[in-house]
Amino acid sequence: MTQKKTGSTRKKSKKSFKNKELQLSSRNKPGKKAAAKSVKAGKPAKPRVAVRRSPIHGRGVFAVTDIPKGARIIEYTGDRISHAAADRLYGELHDGNSHTMLFAATDKIVIDATKRGGPARWINHSCAPNCEANEEDGRVFIDAIRRIPLGAELSYDYNLVLEERHTPKLKREHPCHCGARNCRGTLLGKKR
Ligand SMILES: C[S@@+](CC[C@H](N)C(=O)[O-])C[C@H]1O[C@@H](n2cnc3c(N)ncnc32)[C@H](O)[C@@H]1O
Ligand SMILES: [Zn+2]
Repeated sequence: MTQKKTGSTRKKSKKSFKNKELQLSSRNKPGKKAAAKSVKAGKPAKPRVAVRRSPIHGRGVFAVTDIPKGARIIEYTGDRISHAAADRLYGELHDGNSHTMLFAATDKIVIDATKRGGPARWINHSCAPNCEANEEDGRVFIDAIRRIPLGAELSYDYNLVLEERHTPKLKREHPCHCGARNCRGTLLGKKR
């Protein structure tokens, strides 16, 4: 059994996984501030973000208004599938390919935004992020951890955790192009 650190700690057998698991994860539990600012049900919120081409990678998500620190910006939506289904569907595809739209919400639920999902699936990783992903009751929300000025690209730390050892070679195979001064050079996070 191998223990992996994600939003919640979970155990996976190496056998059930292909050699890689590429799922974004939220390491932090929801902050009180962020939870307090959740969007009220039934009230259509004006979009605060837009999807555009990104200097970091492909498409990204950008603020179309100033976003205050602590604001709950958007939910990461997609099909809700099991870890076993994610392994089955994407295990081979992810071999030698660092692109993923899977988010490991809990030890049971993976949010798969590959085929359909909201704009949050386009948010890129940064080693100096302005957002964080918080899990609440199996749902994942993107919250601002500092003020985000109009036009800035949104980002959070993907904290990608793979089943195998994070060797220098594996890190190179998942390069980070965030451009931050403290860029760690890889999308892979720390194994705990
Ligand atoms: C959920 S997608 C984000 C949207 C992506 N830019 C696109 O156009 O498909 C996640 C993938 O984008 C790429 N990506 C995101 N942030 C990156 C970064 N800082 N450096 C390099 N590639 C990145 C990786 O391939 C990652 O698996
Ligand atoms: Zn980086």
